[in-house]
Amino acid sequence: MPRTDSGSLIPGKLSPIRPVPASILRPEYVGKPGPSQHQGGDKYDSVTISKIRRASKIAAQALEVVLSAAKPGLTTDELDEIGHDFLISQGAYPSTLGYRGFPKSLCSSLNEVICHGIPDDTVLHEGDILNIDISAFIDGVHGDTNGSVVIGSGSESATQLVERTKEAMHRGIRAALPGREVSIIGRAIESYAKRFGYGVVRDFTGHGVGTSFHTGLIIPHYDAPEYNTLIEPGMVFTVEPMLTLGTYDWDLWEDGWTVTTKDKSLSAQFEHTILITEDGPEILTEA
Ligand code: MF3
Ligand code: CO
Ligand code: CO
Repeated sequence: MPRTDSGSLIPGKLSPIRPVPASILRPEYVGKPGPSQHQGGDKYDSVTISKIRRASKIAAQALEVVLSAAKPGLTTDELDEIGHDFLISQGAYPSTLGYRGFPKSLCSSLNEVICHGIPDDTVLHEGDILNIDISAFIDGVHGDTNGSVVIGSGSESATQLVERTKEAMHRGIRAALPGREVSIIGRAIESYAKRFGYGVVRDFTGHGVGTSFHTGLIIPHYDAPEYNTLIEPGMVFTVEPMLTLGTYDWDLWEDGWTVTTKDKSLSAQFEHTILITEDGPEILTEA
């Protein structure tokens, strides 16, 4: 049964914090209000890149495991448990757990939720757009990925939004060639999204990722020439556009995390962690 109306999502009840075995290395921010300042820029040596490759692959596998488990009747908290247990089985720490106080091991964002939804006892319904954003920390580095699916069969507008958001992400990634500025990524994404009249979210962006979860480097998903950092071989960052059926303006729930479209229109997102090579972008978050 689909939800009776869109824009009807409300906060659910959270389960207790899931434990992580003491043998798994924690990021430095766990137990602190926030992360410390990133050191060392956005380009990595080959040893660190190997580590980011491993973290990214684990994150991608976790995403696959969680998204393939998603079906009507499950709660987003049950998906959190699946993602949490998978990461731990690989010796990885779920990067979101304890990041600036975020209480869960992945973000689950349904329908009008743009990003950062908190897994709770909300039940998945046929036709929902579900986004899962999951990140793995292992051997001192993070890999970050997300993907959206329609639960069961959904409306044509929801299905197209999901497909086109994935295409937009790939267009952004393909534009990330060494020697260009990072603004080229947003230009490619926005020019594609505009064809369909979609909203392109501005205030949540891609980011440098590696030895920090968010390094401070910003990757815009809309046309913003002021983001003029040069793309160089050895850089690692995410491309993670959020597109909506309406506005790019947003609201925040009282939980301080859940970001929804202001007009409660549907939203979808995809994310990869990519490495810039001499030849162009390489997707690291591939299962
Ligand atoms: N993984 C998200 C991103 O793509 C960040 C989630 S932070 C959290 O940047 F605290 F909300 F989990
Ligand atoms: Co990210
Ligand atoms: Co993410």
